[in-house]
Amino acid sequence: MFDTKILDNSDRSIELAAELLKSGEVVGIPTETVYGLGADASNEDAVKKIFEAKGRPADNPLIVHISEFSQIEELVTEIPRLAINCAEKFWPGPLTMIMPKSDRVPMITSGGLDTVGIRMPSNETARKIISACGFPIAAPSANLSGSPSPTSAQHVYNDMQNRIPAIVDAGHCGIGVESTVICFEGRDSIRLLRPGFISVDDLKEITENVIIDKGVTEIVAADAKVASPGMKYKHYAPKAEITILEGTLDAYREYVKENSDNDTTLLVFDKNDADGLGLPYVVYGSTDEEQARNLFGSLRELDRLNAVKVFARCPSKNGVGLAVYNRLIRAAAFRVIRL
Ligand code: TXA
Ligand code: MG
Repeated sequence: MFDTKILDNSDRSIELAAELLKSGEVVGIPTETVYGLGADASNEDAVKKIFEAKGRPADNPLIVHISEFSQIEELVTEIPRLAINCAEKFWPGPLTMIMPKSDRVPMITSGGLDTVGIRMPSNETARKIISACGFPIAAPSANLSGSPSPTSAQHVYNDMQNRIPAIVDAGHCGIGVESTVICFEGRDSIRLLRPGFISVDDLKEITENVIIDKGVTEIVAADAKVASPGMKYKHYAPKAEITILEGTLDAYREYVKENSDNDTTLLVFDKNDADGLGLPYVVYGSTDEEQARNLFGSLRELDRLNAVKVFARCPSKNGVGLAVYNRLIRAAAFRVIRL
């Protein structure tokens, strides 16, 4: 058991975090997307502690974070041309690229796969911590497995209290949903495995051939063979039963009036959406970007309110809206009603 400390993001804290990571401990670290649970990617015992702290299934691989492009060379056996193009355009930033892994990446880190997901975060504190360690850092989102990803140090603390020695606090995550995850097919195609802030349109500036994996918007059977193991796990599930209502504000309000009861809470874009309906509500934002930033905090807020049944307004599916939709349908166990 640890007495978990929340550190500020001063140089001294960054040094302290690096010391802990070098000694094989797990540290909560900020990134621009969500907070991560970091450990030395090549240290099997350290990585094992991540899986234990999260309660994460062993076959779900971790993303390896770097601070310099040159660190990629020790991690992979081959760098596809498209990966170099993507790195030039989107790194540092919220893009994870899957490539064939080298022997330097232990199987526990890659969840038993022969590939590794790599990303260079744009968050300065994250990059300073990686640089201070001098080695790549494996980090999944710093939530308990199945809980919403953490977008503040307090969220990490709520989930990881007593499980890890320290969390570095660099404020609220600017983006709020996890990185876009892609792999490469042949010489010219990108397959989107998890949507994020780097959108399909952004990827199309690299190649026209962007394939959106079915698992992005559709349910994947628990025993299915999937391109990305994270797709098949129940995710981000608040305790409430969420139903997404897809349609106009008028249709949403009509449906709520007819189908709500004392147990209903609303998840809306703007407080006006809930006006006069007489029900408790949580607001998650009017633009795709706001919704991305607030979604996970809103899901945690629904738990705090002990919400039982939630009617959620449906994100746009455009730009980062696709990432919001991808996370929300998982939180809703794929219950979507088209009005
Ligand atoms: O923004 C992010 O990506 C955050 C921050 C901390 O960097 N990290 C994150 O990690 O979201 P995690 O572990 O919660 O999600 C990683 C996702 C999982 O769905 C996993 O299955 C997939 O990426 N993934 C990782 N490595 C993979 C690989 N080699 N092949 C296929 N999918 C992979
Ligand atoms: Mg996660």
